Amino acid sequence: MSRLIVSARINGEARELLVDERDSLLDALRERAGLTGTKEGCNNGNCGACSVLLDGRLVNSCLVMAAEVEGSDVTTVEGLELGPQQLHPLQSAFLEEAALQCGICTPGFLVSAKALLDTNPDPTEHEVRFWLAGNLCRCTGYDKIIRAVMGAAETMRNTASSSEGA
Ligand code: FES
Ligand code: FES
Repeated sequence: MSRLIVSARINGEARELLVDERDSLLDALRERAGLTGTKEGCNNGNCGACSVLLDGRLVNSCLVMAAEVEGSDVTTVEGLELGPQQLHPLQSAFLEEAALQCGICTPGFLVSAKALLDTNPDPTEHEVRFWLAGNLCRCTGYDKIIRAVMGAAETMRNTASSSEGA
């Protein structure tokens, strides 16, 4: 199998990764970049555990070839923190609502929810449920996850309106 070097910005950092030509983006992130926050569930596009943002667009990284991301911007769950020791409001809300058990699905839910709130900061519960339909969780029953996303959206709106008023 031949190898190639892929250059991309991952979580804001320029990275060069030596990958196998058949590596998926999921393989490259976990095995070449050491970013194991992105999880492998089904490896065939059905569970959302491997969700990342590719140039701001939500993708299942198990379905993207590593070679395709040359020159792109990739955001993984490790890139969600607002700063050192400063969790993203979605991460805080998941902790507050206890919206995880085994945690395998959690990075995917966080990245998917971020993609939603980036484009729709005030979603209805129906919109949140619809958006997250591609992310599967076998543990939580989903209600806590939905509450966490709705709560984080509210926190982010409040923060944005108080900084506008400042
Ligand atoms: Fe990619 Fe399930 S591991 S969708
Ligand atoms: Fe276990 Fe979601 S917390 S699969």
